[in-house]
Amino acid sequence: MELGRSEYSEKAQIAINNFLPRLGKRKTIDTITDGLSSRPKQISSMFLYDTTGSNLFSQITRLPEYYLTRIEMALLQQLAPKIIGLCGRGSDIVELGSGECRKISLLFDCASQSALHSLRYVPVDINPEEIKKSVGMLITKYRGIQVCGVVADYTQQFELIPRDRDRLICFLGSTIGNLTDDMRRGFLMKIAQSMAPGDRFLVGMDMVKAPYLLEKAYNDSANVTALFNKNILNVVNSLAATDFDLSRFEHVAFYNTEYSRIEMHLRALENMTVSSPRIGQRFTIKKGELIHTENSRKFRPEKTAEELHSAGFTIDSVVMDSNRWYSLYLLSKSGTV
Ligand code: AVJ
Repeated sequence: MELGRSEYSEKAQIAINNFLPRLGKRKTIDTITDGLSSRPKQISSMFLYDTTGSNLFSQITRLPEYYLTRIEMALLQQLAPKIIGLCGRGSDIVELGSGECRKISLLFDCASQSALHSLRYVPVDINPEEIKKSVGMLITKYRGIQVCGVVADYTQQFELIPRDRDRLICFLGSTIGNLTDDMRRGFLMKIAQSMAPGDRFLVGMDMVKAPYLLEKAYNDSANVTALFNKNILNVVNSLAATDFDLSRFEHVAFYNTEYSRIEMHLRALENMTVSSPRIGQRFTIKKGELIHTENSRKFRPEKTAEELHSAGFTIDSVVMDSNRWYSLYLLSKSGTV
């Protein structure tokens, strides 16, 4: 679907569009029901990010064990002048899963006042409060910038993101690692296909490393990640009126070598049944049973380059820290300059 000018006003300095209602409440409950009916049980990691979850994630990014954010911000700072230089007048900077906008600020810090006046920032996030908060913060910090917030699930509603201007699309934080291998390939192709010549795609990826380092990052000593993981049950309770008791679960996160991914699960500490007046079905959960809540895929340089090429990208630059723990890829569409 193409977007009309009426939906995205050219003149207004700030606009926020919430597309989540279009997904429908029923569909959300169906997704939750399907996940809890499948074996093993699962809950989509999308449901980690309500207000509490977003705040907990923000704390995670500041934990000593969680190296991802720190390294990515250093890499971004390194690449920022080049990236901003590539953004022509009147470009959009689209950010998928924008959260608090701490990272993207590093780009704006490099932009001249007149460049800021011609840029439009398009944060896309599932959490409307994050969008509102960050939009408020950005327009005071970066005078003159236009912001067009999009509240949406970008995996299902990618088409709703404006594409009427030249674009830099940013997908940071290794959030791409939350997608399954099949979904990721499909999503990368969708992004490449949506790009015009001159558009760029900036993607952050966490790399394969010693399992104990990975596992530490998802089992922090302050137990913030455990709270973040368990909070998904609160989100499900409020969306689907289920009666999950958080105290009857424990946080589990481990590196699955075969699939090159950190897996987060919730392990039941006792037998229980979970029900909801909105779902015509009870779920029995056995002591020791796991509910899968997140995958966080880790990447290898050679495989990643191959995958990016076959999705339709050319690699313009790659930056990595000296330990090769994390990578930032700046890409354009193949066959265009
Ligand atoms: C924001 C999805 C990239 O997978 O590392 C942090 C989320 N989960 N700790 C990640 C997360 C547990 C994070 N992403």
